Amino acid sequence: MMSAGADGGGPALSTPERVVFSAGQIDRRVRELAAEISAAYMEVDRLLVLGLLKGSFIFMADLVRAITLSHQVDFLIASSYGAGTVSSGDVRLHYDPVTSLDGRAVLVVEDIVDSGTTLGRVLPRLQARDPSSLEVCALLHKRLDPADPAPRWVGFDAPNEFLVGYGLDHAEDFRHLPYIASL
Ligand code: PRP
Repeated sequence: MMSAGADGGGPALSTPERVVFSAGQIDRRVRELAAEISAAYMEVDRLLVLGLLKGSFIFMADLVRAITLSHQVDFLIASSYGAGTVSSGDVRLHYDPVTSLDGRAVLVVEDIVDSGTTLGRVLPRLQARDPSSLEVCALLHKRLDPADPAPRWVGFDAPNEFLVGYGLDHAEDFRHLPYIASL
């Protein structure tokens, strides 16, 4: 069944096609990542976990609740896809974290590295704010180009398909799905 897209700009599939990562698989992997992150930052004071919105909102919420170290949370809002399925290449920054990054250990949480454009634009901006360390945890990575940003932590290597669910959208639909599916 077809329905109008969220922006009213055309038809969108009402149901994703195929489950790629189930809720159970995601849950297990998020716990593993949180354990690795907790161990890696054991000696670090004042860890700041920075979620890249909107796509990371569910991953971020699950991850920070599973990290066993005391830490702080802030967000960054950037977008480049709009209603399309290909990055526009124009990364718009809607919100820059107000928290000072100076001297902080910063962990950026991203839902997916696709073309690598978003992280490629955002990371230098954050680095310029002098964190003591800057690492990335991405739930999904398509590994399309060896030159793409290489997060220290990756949940799953992802197929080169348009993925939705668990925070990822198509024209703002499907973010609420508890699993990740291919359109
Ligand atoms: C998506 C996704 C990542 C980015 C990855 O964000 O959440 O942040 O694209 O793609 P890239 O590696 O090709 O840059 P989007 O721009 O759709 O905004 P959203 O997070 O609000 O969905």
